[in-house]
This record gives sequence, structure tokens and C-alpha cells, in this order.
Amino acid sequence: MIPHLLQIWHSTFGMERPAVIVRTPGRVNIIGEHTDYNDGWVMPGAIDRYLVVMMKRHDGANHHWIADDLRDQVIFNIHDPNTSLPRWAEYIAGVIRLYTPEIGPVQLLVSGNLPVGAGLSSSSALVCGLLMALRELTGKQDDHETIALTASRFERKITGLQGGIMDQFAIMLSRPGQVMLLDCKSTTYQFLPAEIPGCRWLLINSGVKHTLVDSDYNQREAECREALVHIRNQVQDYTSLRDVPLAMVSVFDLPDILRKRVQYVLEENERVHQMAAALEQQQPEVAGKLLSQSHEGLSHLYEVSCTELDSLAMFTKQHPDAYGGRMMGGGFGGCLLCLIRADGLERFLTDVTSFYAGQFGFEPTPIPFEFGQGIHLIETT
Ligand code: GLA
Repeated sequence: MIPHLLQIWHSTFGMERPAVIVRTPGRVNIIGEHTDYNDGWVMPGAIDRYLVVMMKRHDGANHHWIADDLRDQVIFNIHDPNTSLPRWAEYIAGVIRLYTPEIGPVQLLVSGNLPVGAGLSSSSALVCGLLMALRELTGKQDDHETIALTASRFERKITGLQGGIMDQFAIMLSRPGQVMLLDCKSTTYQFLPAEIPGCRWLLINSGVKHTLVDSDYNQREAECREALVHIRNQVQDYTSLRDVPLAMVSVFDLPDILRKRVQYVLEENERVHQMAAALEQQQPEVAGKLLSQSHEGLSHLYEVSCTELDSLAMFTKQHPDAYGGRMMGGGFGGCLLCLIRADGLERFLTDVTSFYAGQFGFEPTPIPFEFGQGIHLIETT
């Protein structure tokens, strides 16, 4: 991919090479959904699908940015208040304004094989990749964890989505073949083997577009904060939902809807630890059951699934070649993550495709992937 992108670079910007090239991956989260902004635990890993960001300062008056896979480009002066930018370029403009407002015009090319809107964190990959590139261009010293926290903060500012730190930590710090067990309160983490022998992780894109910014995501985040206020009015010891013992959920005086949300978050935190044990002990049946339970909770207690994902999860749960599956990411669309018997993968794919097409009139898209390395600086001059 890089040689092809360099050709585009040179034919647009001339013979000088980019000063920095960054490969910035998407992420898959095995379990621990909607727990990061509740100071809980998550288990994400970067995948071998990524964006490439190429960048260089230039002497002209204008920025010139290309989104190759979107077949779009913008040329503009960042100080011009009348500039209206497409959404992808708004991210870039936002990051530059917040991180290196002094930098002056840059030439930039973004491309990749990471699907957008599938819940694989393409926007966090972009923001992390931009921060790495800008760090290199300006000689800043931020380490990977600082960039992860900065990216998360900037994304909240740029999009208004009150997301947590999971995606950015996975993108910045992952190791090939492993997932991280991340404590979102202390921001400490350890690595676990991602693979179970004889099994394959698989994503199935429901094709339902997930646009979290317009979704109920922020409402869930607000409900969790409100639930904590209710709980702290009764017992002041707890600083976040993760400190509340699961057995207490039925005891607190809470509106029903908030009780459901809290129950989900606390159960999901427990499942993350159970999944860590299942991976370490190579127990696919246990892992599959935890996935299916997680989906149930996301669908019925947290209410962030959709009909298509529910059907896929139910089908996966019942299929003889699958151990289980669950919606992954923020929800309201996007992908199902499944754990499949390696020797039954082809059969599962055929069956799930015809089932889904029969139900909804279009085929889902399988996304095979491996757990890969986190962000990677390919070149810097
Ligand atoms: C999105 C957010 C993450 C996390 C997940 C849900 O991907 O960016 O911070 O909250 O949703 O687990």
C-alpha cells in the first residue's frame, strides 16, 4: 500500500517525500463495552487494518489534504473563517488547532483499508495518527500513553461524543497477537494472548451504519453519571460505578432504567475478568458464552443494539461452528464479533450470509482480521 500511496503523493505534491509516515490501526474490543467511561475494564487490541497518514510542512499559503480512499481533497487557508470542510477534514483541522496551532500549512495524505462507520474506530485511528505525525514534525516529546489520553480528550472536543479512552489506548499501545486488559481508572494495563488454538475471531459487518455522534451514546454516558449521583446520595464511598458491588444494585433506590444500566456495567466488568481467565486457560466455550451474555446485556439492559445485530447474535449463538458472538463498539449498528471453530469457518460464513440475506434482503460483510501491532512510525526525516 505504501508504494502506491507514495505515487499519489509525488504526483500531487512533487518529488519531495513526506517528512513522516504513520500507520495507525483500527481496534477490536473482545469484551468490556461501554465500561471505559465508567472507569471500568476493557479488552481491546489493534487489528491489521489501518490508515496511513503521510505529512509534510510546506511553504505555500494553503493546507492541502487528500483523503485518497474517499476520493476527496481540500485546499484552504486554516485562518479563513469562511472555510467549510467535509467531516474527515474537520477532524484534521480540529487536531491541528488543538495540538499544534502554530504549525502553518501542511500537505497531507490519508488512506487505508480500515472500514469507516463499522465501529472499528477509524476516527480514533485518524486522530492518533495525526498526533503522532504532528509530534514528529514539531519535535514534541509526548509518549504513547500521553498521546492516547490527548487523542481521547481532543475527540471529545471535536465531536462532542463523550467517549472513553479504550480505542486510543488500543491504537497506541497494542502488540501483535495480543489484547490488552486495560483498567480505565488507573490507566494500567497488561497483555493477554488474543488467540485460542483451533478458533478464529471474526467480524461480521451488519451494514447498519453506526454514527455514534448522532446516537444515544451520550445519553447512556449521562445516565451512568446520573445513576452514580443517586448511588452516592445513599452511600458516599463510591467514586465511580466500578466501585459499586453488583449485589448492591438491587438494594439502591434507583429509577428502573438507571438500575438496568448499572447492572449491565457491573456485570460486564465481571465478564472482562472472566474472559481474561478464559483466554489464558484457552477455554473457547467459556469465552463464547461470555460473548453471548455480553450481547444480551447490551441489547436488553443497556439498549444499544439493533434488530440486525440481535438476529446475527442469536444466529451465531445457535450455530454449531460458533462459540458465541456479540455486537462490538458503541453499538446502534456496526459489527458482530464472533468466536468460530477454525475448521467450521467456511460453513459458518455460508450459513450466516444466507440467513442474514433471507432476513434483511442484503448480505452482511465478513471482515477477517488478525490482532496486530499498535501505531507504527514508518518513516520520519
Ligand atoms: C466507542 C467509544 C469508546 C467506548 C465504546 C463502547 O467506541 O469511542 O470509548 O466507549 O464506544 O465500549
